[in-house]
Amino acid sequence: MFNENLIRKIPNVLTFNHFPKKLLHWYPENKRDLPWRNTQNPYIIWLSEIILQQTRVAQGLPYFKEFVKHYPTVEDLAQAPIEDVLRLWQGLGYYSRARNLHQCAKQVSEELGGDFPDNYQALLKLKGIGQYTAAAIASFAFKEKVAVLDGNVFRVLSRYFGIDTDISSPKGKRQFQTLANELIPGDQPDEYNQAIMEFGALQCTPKKANCGHCPLKDSCYAYANGQVEALPVKIKKTKVTTRAFLYHEVKCDNLKIVKTRGPKDIWQGLTDFPLVEYPSPEKINPEESSLFQELQAFKPIINYQSEKTYKHILSHQKIFSNFVTFNIAPDKCDEVKIWADSKGYRLCDDEELEALGKPQLIVRYLNDQK
Ligand code: ADE
Repeated sequence: MFNENLIRKIPNVLTFNHFPKKLLHWYPENKRDLPWRNTQNPYIIWLSEIILQQTRVAQGLPYFKEFVKHYPTVEDLAQAPIEDVLRLWQGLGYYSRARNLHQCAKQVSEELGGDFPDNYQALLKLKGIGQYTAAAIASFAFKEKVAVLDGNVFRVLSRYFGIDTDISSPKGKRQFQTLANELIPGDQPDEYNQAIMEFGALQCTPKKANCGHCPLKDSCYAYANGQVEALPVKIKKTKVTTRAFLYHEVKCDNLKIVKTRGPKDIWQGLTDFPLVEYPSPEKINPEESSLFQELQAFKPIINYQSEKTYKHILSHQKIFSNFVTFNIAPDKCDEVKIWADSKGYRLCDDEELEALGKPQLIVRYLNDQK
């Protein structure tokens, strides 16, 4: 049971019944027409939710359409090479999600005969499916009464009910989940879950919430008490580290040296150029890199643009990157290939490089060279 003492109610307002009723009234009149809303196919719903955890609707939509076009069924996705999946995911970031997506498709296809489980608990057992995604699939596809809890839902509930528990704490998550599960109506769990998320995305937005035209404003604690900007409470604990990369773009004839990134670091499985990491951006110095020294043997023409730094922000890392280019005469390609093999690198042409999944930083750099 939800501890009602946590709720700061506006006197004389029947918050518990009023809230879902208003949302369910608001939703059909205001919802966006999105392709994953016109289906109960769990595969399509799952795909959309994994993509939407990574980005906003506007940016996620083209990715969703491409995935559905390439892989109309879970079997199609399961049978695809991981490189192709990573290439389609390119630009969304957080590539472990793409690998989990692929593994989950394999699980469903190979262990479950191609059918997604039809309930929350069983869905949770699949690779990359956490509480949010399991609740979304179980409610949207199978009408199970289980509440979704994402950033939108936290925001709407904390403002409306005036709850100031830190939403990033386990305690906060438990409290909000309990409240959300009490509010969800048994006869329309799918519609209600969509409604509260859409309400958070369109109406009760993080900044400049549209309180003036809000159907809940007469009973909203935050609105009545000037707390809209202050809620929800989220105490940030993530530590961000700064990294400095020097990429070596080595060209010989129409070929470039590349490598596939290994485990235990960001961008596993993506393709990029040989790189040397420095302790800080100010310390980047191409002539000090061991690769620079080794490449001298091929008498390259070297070009280093020290002032052109590419900055790339990830959730826990801030990456500063510079690029140094080495143009090597075509008659040395065989030697370069032997050297590249010995270092665990390989040579590939532009067409192959285009088709491989690459970090967005590399995509940006390559686009700037066109
Ligand atoms: N964000 C996450 N899931 C969503 C959904 N199903 N519709 C719209 N936005 C979302």
